[in-house]
Amino acid sequence: MNGFANAVFLRAAGSPADMPPAGPPEIAFAGRSNVGKSSAINALLGRRSLARTSKTPGRTQTLNFYEAGEQARFVDLPGYGFARVPLEVRAQWRALVGTYLESRATLCAVVLVMDARQPQTPHDLQLIGWLRGVPLIVLLAKADKLSRTAQGEALRAVRSRLPGASVELFSSVTRQGVAEARDLLQHSLQAGRQNKRPPVKGM
Ligand code: GTP
Ligand code: MG
Repeated sequence: MNGFANAVFLRAAGSPADMPPAGPPEIAFAGRSNVGKSSAINALLGRRSLARTSKTPGRTQTLNFYEAGEQARFVDLPGYGFARVPLEVRAQWRALVGTYLESRATLCAVVLVMDARQPQTPHDLQLIGWLRGVPLIVLLAKADKLSRTAQGEALRAVRSRLPGASVELFSSVTRQGVAEARDLLQHSLQAGRQNKRPPVKGM
C-alpha cells in the first residue's frame, strides 16, 4: 500500500535561507546527477511526474521539498559528480546540501541513490561521511539494467561495505524494490516522529 499518496510540491530552496521552516520528519534523496533521484521520489510517491526528471544531468539545482501526506516530507537534493559543472556552482552546492544535511533537525533518514551498475563512487562515500549518524538507506537504482546475477553481486558488495545501512535494489521502471523502500521510509519516519534520533544543532 502507498502511504505517501496525494503528495504535493511545497517549495524549492536555492539557498539555506529559502528552506521552509522545519515541520514533519524529512527524508532527503541524495546521489550523483542523473542517477534517478527524482524518478525514485516519483515511484515512491506513486506519481508519474511530480518531481521533474530529465535525461540531462544536473536538472535539479535546488532543494525541492514535497509534502508526502501530512506527516512526512521528501526532499530532492541536487545531484553531484557532474563533470561539467563550474567550480563556483560546486561550492554553492556544497554550501546548500552540506548545510541542510548537517543541521536540519527534522532530517530522519537519507536515501542515497546509487547506480546499481557503478555504486559507491568516491563522491557517494564522501556524502556518507557528512551524515554524522543520520540513518542511511541506499537504493541501487536502474537495477533493470543488470542481470539477476549482477544485481545480487552489487547488493552483496554494497551491503558488506556499508553494514550500518539498509540497502535495496531499485528500479523506477520495473518498480522493483518500491514496496521494500516504502517500508524502510515508513520505519524511519516513525522513528523520526518519536524523536528517537538526538537532534542535531539548530534549524
Ligand atoms: P539530477 O536531478 O540531474 O541530479 O538527476 P536525477 O538523479 O534526479 O535523475 P532523474 O530521476 O532525472 O533520471 C535521470 C534519467 O535516468 C532519466 O532519463 C530517467 O528516465 C532515467 N532513470 C531513472 N530511474 C531509472 C531506472 O530505475 N531505470 C532506468 N532504466 N532508467 C531510469
Ligand atoms: Mg533530479
